[in-house]
Amino acid sequence: MIKIRENLYWVGIKDWELKKFHGDEFTTENGSTYNSYLIKGEKKTVLVDTCWGPFKDEYIAHLESSVGLANIDCLICQHTETDHSGAMVALLEKLPDLPVYCTAKAKQFLESQYHREWNCTIVKTGDKLDIGGYELLFIEAPMLHWPDSMFTYINGMATLLPNDAFGQHYVTGKMFNDEVDQCLLWQECIKYYANIVSPYAKMVKAKIDQFRGLGLPVEMICPSHGIIWRENPMQIIDKYEEWSLSYKEDQVLIVYDTMWQETRVMAEALARGVEKTGMTAKVVNAARTDETHVLTDVFRSAGILAGSPTINNGISHAMAAVMEGVKHLKLTGKQGAAFGSYGWSGEGPAILQARLEEAGVKIAGGPLKQVHLPRPEDIARLEEFGQQFAEGLK
Ligand code: FEO
Repeated sequence: MIKIRENLYWVGIKDWELKKFHGDEFTTENGSTYNSYLIKGEKKTVLVDTCWGPFKDEYIAHLESSVGLANIDCLICQHTETDHSGAMVALLEKLPDLPVYCTAKAKQFLESQYHREWNCTIVKTGDKLDIGGYELLFIEAPMLHWPDSMFTYINGMATLLPNDAFGQHYVTGKMFNDEVDQCLLWQECIKYYANIVSPYAKMVKAKIDQFRGLGLPVEMICPSHGIIWRENPMQIIDKYEEWSLSYKEDQVLIVYDTMWQETRVMAEALARGVEKTGMTAKVVNAARTDETHVLTDVFRSAGILAGSPTINNGISHAMAAVMEGVKHLKLTGKQGAAFGSYGWSGEGPAILQARLEEAGVKIAGGPLKQVHLPRPEDIARLEEFGQQFAEGLK
């Protein structure tokens, strides 16, 4: 049990070994944490969220030794995804009558995931719970990032517990934002936002507007993953707002796959053209790069040039996977074009262009088809295309 501030404790789990999350969908090179909090009011001791199932025994043993299970008066389940609810079955076997506060959708999801019915009280935005000295305010946050999600604001402590929102898959020996490597912290924040939250950008903006409208003081934000925002906590809310508004940097991502280097040569020629404009060109071989990182770069980039050789009248497996991922992100305000080499049929670039359009990317030229290896005059045309494409983004 780690004291976060007066009457607020961290009772979570640090998962240093975690390298993949959401099955194998999301890489977590820097591990993660399952943050669970204990609020001590004068009338009630409140547990907020639990942890992933594989850690349930050590989690419950720690609660027993540090708090005493019998001293816990209620559980707030802010989100039922199993990384936060996985210890509930074992915990509620020991405390079967424990009141559980959650949204209506969370109650439904608990039943469908665990086939149990617990002592749930359904709460909605604006509902309050007096715990003695503090008042908990519940704020539903559907699609941040599941329909069941909610925030809890601790009145009297100026502290927001937003569950997955504002988190990062980042474990360190420290607890607070001002104590950790800032580059790693922000890299993990944007990777998390891009891959997990960005499909719900409209809801993010609306929730931030609603929260700001409440005019509540915020001294601390305690998400369910990673470090706690103590120093200038509103900076992460400001950043989420910026990210939710068709975010883009002065960067063109040139993401491609290649069989015999021909499409790679095209990619690098396009990059040289982009760089002539002063914009950053980032060149990434999709088959050799973690897809979570590729999608983070898609999120950051103003333009996307997608390349694949034609393989059996189609595109490469790696580029097909990337384009499926781009579609999931539901990004807005991006421009793109497709390119690729071929030997005889040459369908690849047109297929890629269609995938870009399907993902909501505005097509700005192309598709660029190249028969085998580019000649010097082809290289010059590709450089010119890259330059014009980048100029069009300004
Ligand atoms: Fe951290 Fe949506 O679970």
